[in-house]
Formats: sequence, structure tokens, C-alpha cells
Amino acid sequence: MIAALLPPGLSGAELRDAGQKLVLHPGEEHHVARAAEKRHRDFALGRSCARAALAPLGHGVAAIGMGADGAPQWPAGILGSITHTSGYAAAVVGEAGSFLGVGVDAERVGGVARKLWPRLFNAAEQAHLAGRTDADVAATLLFSAKEAAFKAWRLKGALAFRDIAIALQEDGFTADHAGKQIRGRHAVEGELVLTLAWF
Ligand SMILES: CC(C)(COP(=O)(O)OP(=O)(O)OC[C@H]1O[C@@H](n2cnc3c(N)ncnc32)[C@H](O)[C@@H]1OP(=O)(O)O)[C@@H](O)C(=O)NCCC(=O)NCCS
Repeated sequence: MIAALLPPGLSGAELRDAGQKLVLHPGEEHHVARAAEKRHRDFALGRSCARAALAPLGHGVAAIGMGADGAPQWPAGILGSITHTSGYAAAVVGEAGSFLGVGVDAERVGGVARKLWPRLFNAAEQAHLAGRTDADVAATLLFSAKEAAFKAWRLKGALAFRDIAIALQEDGFTADHAGKQIRGRHAVEGELVLTLAWF
């Protein structure tokens, strides 16, 4: 899925969890030393994707740290993003000299309960959903695009989901926040939704 979303210059990798053996970098283990099994597995899937995505950029054996806000810490000169949802993980990285930010997000359709829509989506987004026959897919796409934009912009603090406005197009989206705009692409495969935003 990820390959179809990547613009030139970004490198991506994805994994479907088939119970394969995953090895964390020794410098990463302390981040999940006391974590529950699922969190450990998700973290390892994400870090494995990140290392695979970094390999073409010459950083395939790097430890990927974690900032105080939870965001990954990339090797010098690199930026990127990691996502995981049940049974799937992906990572996208690029040269910091070519990109200012990148965010990737995966979600499962159905995870965005309808009762939450008024809190998550602005009036234009809710009108868009009302006109779609596949509203649950579209709501998941909107939610995921907000998360991808949030990661790409490295936003901080208590942000309402409604503060990032998404306009969905056939194969992409634009996200608006505080006078800034970012573009992105999306893909849907069965119940899995994947979004990527970059600038
Ligand atoms: C941090 C956040 C973006 C993660 O998204 P998610 O859909 O819950 O989970 P994902 O699996 O897609 O992403 C998790 C990964 O995001 C990365 N991440 C965590 N915090 C991050 C941050 N502040 N910025 C960028 N990336 C972050 C990490 O790599 C994490 O995986 P890891 O802990 O295994 O390294 C989300 O949980 C969050 O808190 N958002 C803030 C709420 C909000 O206001 N959202 C804005 C939408 S309008």
C-alpha cells in the first residue's frame, strides 16, 4: 500500500504482522522494556519498518530513539514518521534537506464511531460524509488524514481534531491548519486505510 503513496524522494516500508520474528535495536529496548505484549509488538513492527525505509538512505542499522512527545528521533539529516494499527505497520522517511515534514497514519475502518463525528469533524467534513455512501470509510480517511498532518507538522499540545480541516479528493487530500496547508495521498485496501502527508 505504501509504495503507491510515496512521492519521489521519500522512502517507505510496511509490514503485515504474520507473527514473524522481529529484532529491536539494543538502543531501543528500554522504550518498551515494561510494556504490554501488544505495545511491544506494535513498537517492534514500527521500528522494523523504519529501519527498512532508512536502508536506502544509508541508515539501515540505526537505533531510532523517542522524543519526550513520543515522536521518533531520526538519524541526523533524516525526518520521517511511523504508524501501526492492528496487524499492520508502516514508516516513511526522507532527507531533511528535501522535506520539512512527513506524517503517515494507518487506521482500521470502523474505529471512528459515528457518535464521535460531531467532535472530530467540522461542518464541511460532516457535509462531505453525509453525501457519501461509504461514510464509514470516508470518516476513517478524514480521521487518518488529520493524524498524518498532525505528525507531519509536529503539532504540540491539546489540539482538537476539528482544528485540522481535511478536504478529501479521489486519491489525495489537503489539510488546513492555522493558515498552513499540506497535501497528502490516501489508499484503502479492505478495512485498512493509509494516509501520507508531506511538505
Ligand atoms: C501521537 C498520535 C499522532 C499517534 O497517532 P495514532 O493514530 O494514535 O497512532 P499511530 O500508530 O498512527 O502512531 C504511533 C506512532 O506515532 C509516532 N508519534 C508519537 N507521538 C508523536 C508525535 N507527537 N508526533 C509525531 N509522531 C508521533 C510514534 O512513532 C508512534 O509509534 P511508536 O510509539 O511505536 O514509535 C496521536 O495518538 C495523538 O496523540 N494525536 C494527538 C491528538 C490530536 O490532537 N490529534 C490531532 C488530529 S487533529
